[in-house]
Amino acid sequence: MATRTQSRASNRSSSSDRNRGSDSSSSNRSAFSWGSDAGPMLGAALAGAAIGFAANYGRKAFMQGMEATVGDWDEILTAEHKMALGILDKMLATDQSQSFKRKMLLMKLTHALDKHAHAEEMVVYPALREDDQAMDADHLEGEHGYIKTFIYELNKIGAEAPNWLEKVREFRALVHEHAEMEEQQVFPKFKQAMTEEENAEITSLVNRDGFWMA
Ligand SMILES: [Fe+2]
Ligand SMILES: [Fe+2]
Repeated sequence: MATRTQSRASNRSSSSDRNRGSDSSSSNRSAFSWGSDAGPMLGAALAGAAIGFAANYGRKAFMQGMEATVGDWDEILTAEHKMALGILDKMLATDQSQSFKRKMLLMKLTHALDKHAHAEEMVVYPALREDDQAMDADHLEGEHGYIKTFIYELNKIGAEAPNWLEKVREFRALVHEHAEMEEQQVFPKFKQAMTEEENAEITSLVNRDGFWMA
């Protein structure tokens, strides 16, 4: 809240030539004609696109399904906090010889926090500002900046750096403090003042944002 704000020191067509000179009928085709031999090619291209789309859609649907089982917007975000802290704990359990594992965990954490912060910054914090809680929203969004700074620093120093664990420990402390403020102060206060319809609307918007970011 305000006091915490103040206490923080730093605040793509492969349009191949379809005309075959000896084929008078084909020479009359328009430049956009696919030609008689294009069927298999087109079919394969469409099938490939369909597989790609299905794979991506399936992943998104899976992520969405995971969220849909959690509950309201605040419960979804709380579950994501726990997931991020769990990844940070795994990072803290590594040693200097496990640089590959460290890099993989940092990538996973970066994706999880990116998706999480997007939902908060695009839905929850704007809704807070609309509800005259701009100070909390601005403070929390500012902290997201410092969370991103930790990711930047960890990438910069590299997974074998002697101070890697120390950096991760500081990173975890900030994520923990930030999550506690959201879970214990800001979210409950905001939710308490909501109607059921408003709660359902914010939940739907958080789910939609998570679906596109998954
Ligand atoms: Fe946040
Ligand atoms: Fe959060």
